[in-house]
Amino acid sequence: MPWTANKLGAVVVGIDYRLAPQYQFPVPLEDVISVVRFFLQDNILAKYGVDPSRICISGDSSGGTLAAKVTQLVQNDPEFKNKIKAQALIYPGLQGVDVLMPSHRQNEHGPILSRDMAIKMGCLYLTKDKALPQAVRENQHMPHGSRHLFKLVNWSTLLPEKYRRNHIYTEPIIGKLNSSYPVFLDSRLSPLLATDSQLEKLPLTYIITCEHDILRDDGLIYVSRLRNAAVNVSHDHIEDGIHGALFFMTTPFYLRVGIRISDKYINWLEENL
Ligand SMILES: *[C@@H]1O[C@H](CO)[C@@H](O)[C@H](O)[C@H]1NC(C)=O
Ligand SMILES: *[C@@H]1O[C@H](CO)[C@@H](O)[C@H](O)[C@H]1NC(C)=O
Ligand SMILES: *[C@@H]1O[C@H](CO)[C@@H](O)[C@H](O)[C@H]1NC(C)=O
Repeated sequence: MPWTANKLGAVVVGIDYRLAPQYQFPVPLEDVISVVRFFLQDNILAKYGVDPSRICISGDSSGGTLAAKVTQLVQNDPEFKNKIKAQALIYPGLQGVDVLMPSHRQNEHGPILSRDMAIKMGCLYLTKDKALPQAVRENQHMPHGSRHLFKLVNWSTLLPEKYRRNHIYTEPIIGKLNSSYPVFLDSRLSPLLATDSQLEKLPLTYIITCEHDILRDDGLIYVSRLRNAAVNVSHDHIEDGIHGALFFMTTPFYLRVGIRISDKYINWLEENL
């Protein structure tokens, strides 16, 4: 946050939303929405000297999930008079529907974020029920009545050929859990479940994906879906990138890739905001 403000000479608001597992879905998202709703008021923007026509929403990893969803909400809700000029999403997580995409398979054991760890953390965002992570591991957590949504995250149609490689598409298995989690149909959890007409209203978008990241395909699929909806998307794919690289910007081992990502991010904002 401070480096963004210094490098851009912009007003940067970081949101200290409450965290799972103490505060489960949708509390963190609602915290973010209420801060954004407050900040987007004319008198508050004026107080901080912010130009209402140059607002960007941004986040990385689970912050990217929240940023993507809040941008969808602001752009689609007439209650918000001040709209967003740009969104910048860095290796965002964008769906919990299908967790056997090529990137989940290729990066099952990390680096940084293993599939198992991501599933554990993702489930704790929803429940303490141990049956859920077990089902998610097998990609059989989706409830009855959810199959119509699969096309919105179908990687066999939405991923560029290069990333599909030789992986074989299998649909998530539905109706296996005794307790059903309708939350998996909710686009507030999975911004990729937004409809095309909701996506059409999105602003100029910047997405960074990393090759060595289980969440890679979420970002790549969002690029496809946004472009299909005629949204102007800039996309940088970091071939040697790992999930969370920004966080390791100051650790010598990962120094260079973290700095490269942060430079790309800042440069894009300088040129486009
Ligand atoms: C996913 O896409 C493939 C085509 O690549 C198609 O055969 C399959 O029916 C689709 N599945 C769903 C559930 O949308
Ligand atoms: C679902 O409930 C049945 C019957 O109570 C039980 O045998 C089964 O183990 C349960 N399955 C899961 C995944 O919890
Ligand atoms: C997309 O946005 C960029 C940066 O603002 C702009 O230069 C470009 O003309 C836009 N492209 C389209 C097709 O609108």
